[in-house]
Amino acid sequence: MTMIAVQVLRRTQEAQDIAGFELGRPDGGPLPPFSAGSHIDVQVPGGPMRQYSLCNDAAEQHRYRIAVLREPKSRGGSAGMHDSVREGDTLLISEPRNHFPLVHAKRTLLMAGGIGVTPLLCMAQRLATIGADFTLHYSTRSVARTAFREEILRSAFADRVRFHHDDGPPGQMLNVPADVGPPDADTHLYLCGPAGYIQHVLQVAQGMGWPPAQIHLEYFTAAPADTQGDRAFQVRIASSGKVIDVPANESVTQALARNGVEVLTSCEQGVCGTCITRVLEGECDHRDLYFTDEEKARNDQFTPCCSRARSQVLVLDL
Ligand code: FES
Repeated sequence: MTMIAVQVLRRTQEAQDIAGFELGRPDGGPLPPFSAGSHIDVQVPGGPMRQYSLCNDAAEQHRYRIAVLREPKSRGGSAGMHDSVREGDTLLISEPRNHFPLVHAKRTLLMAGGIGVTPLLCMAQRLATIGADFTLHYSTRSVARTAFREEILRSAFADRVRFHHDDGPPGQMLNVPADVGPPDADTHLYLCGPAGYIQHVLQVAQGMGWPPAQIHLEYFTAAPADTQGDRAFQVRIASSGKVIDVPANESVTQALARNGVEVLTSCEQGVCGTCITRVLEGECDHRDLYFTDEEKARNDQFTPCCSRARSQVLVLDL
């Protein structure tokens, strides 16, 4: 992956535990273009690679804006960004990629949970620019934890945004059946946020008959996995024939790394798709939130950062 060196032009405090970073070329030149819903990989200094959605207007080429929530159980990503990245620092990032694109629709419903607002804010700006019909429902725990609140209130699309706060009065609470409403063929629904939020909205929408083709989602964090029944298995490297043991308490990527086989990872929880590896033989035990059910059923690729094997051996196209 080609990495780009960018400078932190500005660092802001967007809300409690949420820092904003504005990134640009040191020479002020244009950055690669992006579309609403895109993300970049960021090499956290001295830490892991992490993915962050771009939240600024996709028409801008002079900067990328990201916002990072400090995770209480950070494994070095969000804590590294909060604790060690300052204005003027240089960061290595990837070019933008988009796994969460906007599709053309007469009406768009954007549902954001917490820091999941970032790609949807970018989408809201795009939809407002083209004069499209949309509503953004933005749910957070409190006003203090609501990133971009003032900016949204000052924006040209403020009247299209509904804020919902867990600690607010009953009348403003998110009411998924009423706020999402029954499906109609002209409306597309976009969900982004933590796994619990997405699963709740998704369940209600599906219960009301929303077809999968009109629902688009991007997880920010996976729910904690149940690892109790995990067992040991083996992976075979197709190119070398080498067989590697994967103990019950290790991921496939950890076992591979221990044996000198590096697979690029980012989220390490089955959300981002960075580690996708082709599977040539054996049965996968998919644990990710990235693939659709149909893709999982094909059994020809998996996410070795979190997924495992149902068969005793998996043959990997490495
Ligand atoms: Fe993100 Fe595996 S590293 S899905």
